[in-house]
Amino acid sequence: MNQPITAKINEKGRLEIGGCDLVDLAAEFGTPLYVMDEVTLRGKCREYRTAFKNRYDNTLIIFANKALCNTAILKIIQDEGLGADVASGGELFTARKAGCNLKTVYFHGNNKTQKELMEAVELEIGRIVVDNLDELALLDRITVKLGKKIDILFRVNPGIEAHTHEFIQTGQIDSKFGISKENVAEAVKLAQRTKYLNFIGLHSHIGSQIFDIEPFLKEIEILCALSEGMNVEEINLGGGLGIDHSGSDVVPTIDQFAEEVVGHFKKCWEKHKLAEPRLILEPGRSIVGNAGVTLYSIGGIKEIPGIRKYVSVDGGMADNPRPILYDAQYSAILANKARKPVGEKVTVAGRFCESGDKLIKDIELPKVEVGDILAVFATGAYNYSMASNYNRVGRSAMVLVNNGAPTLILKRESNEDLTLNDVVM
Ligand code: LLP
Repeated sequence: MNQPITAKINEKGRLEIGGCDLVDLAAEFGTPLYVMDEVTLRGKCREYRTAFKNRYDNTLIIFANKALCNTAILKIIQDEGLGADVASGGELFTARKAGCNLKTVYFHGNNKTQKELMEAVELEIGRIVVDNLDELALLDRITVKLGKKIDILFRVNPGIEAHTHEFIQTGQIDSKFGISKENVAEAVKLAQRTKYLNFIGLHSHIGSQIFDIEPFLKEIEILCALSEGMNVEEINLGGGLGIDHSGSDVVPTIDQFAEEVVGHFKKCWEKHKLAEPRLILEPGRSIVGNAGVTLYSIGGIKEIPGIRKYVSVDGGMADNPRPILYDAQYSAILANKARKPVGEKVTVAGRFCESGDKLIKDIELPKVEVGDILAVFATGAYNYSMASNYNRVGRSAMVLVNNGAPTLILKRESNEDLTLNDVVM
């Protein structure tokens, strides 16, 4: 199921989310419009927390902001007791603005800038996840200069190929991320020789949109074996659990994921006779993905007899680059014809000047007419966060829906906004 849990068809035959009629939302806020369902979002945070806490009390779930970074969303996530994984100064700034507890902030990235690292040390954030030895040396110099301590983890490249799109695999040997297994012990020794860097533990992230739990179990074994003789207090397994994007993807539930991960985690630590560390998970997509729906208005319709019918929407690759980047599959319905039976096969084309800008190929919909509202499911993760201003189109607005009330949480970018940084007028 790839729809928000509050999705239903109302008495007008229209799709409703969070008690809000999507056709009314499109009229009030315009399209394209990102709609986030608060009940689904909070539900996912709770599912993660309870699934892990009930099995392993010493767990912290942190939300990977790269999936969707916005102050309103972060406030909800913080309210649900999750920490924050940030991957840039901008995400860190947003976390601060949202009032996140900085002690639960983990800073990632394979090439954090000196400025970003200095800021993180000055703010005394929870952890910096050191990606390579050059970064270790830089962080050492920064902390000496500032005279401040910081807790660090090392990102380990475990050499695991998770079964997902090659662009979103990160744990394979040929990857820009992380320190290879063989060099971790040396990195820990180097950290122990510094004055201000406090080595806390190991991190790894093997990829994203992963359906199979097996590679996570392998990751646990590798991190556990590496922990021998290192006094590891914390193990961070990264994110990566997949979601049903297309409407027919078969994915493990968060509970099944926790059951297998925690079971294996305990077994490994017992086998190696090591003290059980704190367990960190940093999901992004599986927290926000299914809470999001994008609304578009149907514009031009073009039929090429015997070949294909294109229906164009007022958004596309700039608000959702995932189909063009990863060939990602999405499903959709016409929100204003939610009860009508499907009657034709069409290809949903975006509005941007690129032939590959197709959101959904060969989808069955009721007869499509100009002005219909298309609702595309499972767009909560890596849509807004990867949105661009291609063709100088402003980024879309976002509303949070709950209990029949929509709240605007992100304004639509105006043409004025788009020229704000143009220096010559
Ligand atoms: N932790 C680290 C260090 C990561 O690099 C990522 C994602 C996560 C956690 C969260 O992973 P998730 O639970 O969301 O799978 N743009 C791509 C996804 C890139 C993921 C990058 N790292 C997409 O749209 O599929």
